[in-house]
Amino acid sequence: MNQQPIGIFDSGVGGLSVWQTTVRLLPHESVIYLADTRNCPYGPQPVEAIIGHCQRNVEFLLSKNCKLIVVACNTATAAAIEVLRQTYEIPFVGMEPAVKPAAMFSKTGKIGVLATQGTLNGQLFKNTSEKYARHLEVFVQIGHGLVELVENGKTDSEEAIVMLRKYVEPMLRQQVDQIVLGCTHYPFLIGAIKKITGDSVSIVNPAEAVSRQTKRLLDQKNLLSTTNNQPYYQFYANGDARVMHKMVGQIITENSINANFEVFSTHI
Ligand code: DGL
Repeated sequence: MNQQPIGIFDSGVGGLSVWQTTVRLLPHESVIYLADTRNCPYGPQPVEAIIGHCQRNVEFLLSKNCKLIVVACNTATAAAIEVLRQTYEIPFVGMEPAVKPAAMFSKTGKIGVLATQGTLNGQLFKNTSEKYARHLEVFVQIGHGLVELVENGKTDSEEAIVMLRKYVEPMLRQQVDQIVLGCTHYPFLIGAIKKITGDSVSIVNPAEAVSRQTKRLLDQKNLLSTTNNQPYYQFYANGDARVMHKMVGQIITENSINANFEVFSTHI
């Protein structure tokens, strides 16, 4: 048993999609969230640069005494999780595009994957596709500009619909019946995506599976908080924190969360 907080980081607000499923599943855990908004987006950056950002993020969360860190960013996981695991002693949980469940549930044998350039070019995605989707047709699409839309709070805008149409309609024409969201920012666009797909397609978001893995790992390592722990939630951004503040407020209200939360600007 251990009352230290869990750390979660992303290039920006996208990882809040994983924060949400994690606090639902682990209501006694305190969580410190870091949005590296100063360096967002990670997607088009070279692997070495992303590794550097991740190491800085981890050092920050370790300075806050975190016991486990969730890399709530597919791009960062693809670029850096191996290095992080080799460098630091605490456990890490990473993201992986949910190709496996999409492949399992597809009836048309055709699935779409929407992700960043960094994720789609990464070895992790290649291995996962090879392992679980060799017998399927996989249509990949880089979501150019989508991370920036979410960072600017424009998830329900006309601009979002126009951009998403360009990415999603070609997949629909290919008759995909599953679209995997391979970036933690994209679950905030599910409403807009559904306006385009209707109910004909399942949208696959790996956030819950990642939270279940976090729980399993904490349990295995005897790091779960006790059930009488009064959890606290802290959110840090090293750029403009206004959109994060708004989104956190909305998520906390929607989930009727009573615990204390604070939003900070930081200079890392
Ligand atoms: N949320 C990140 C991911 O899951 C966004 C990457 C970016 O900053 O481009 O990939």
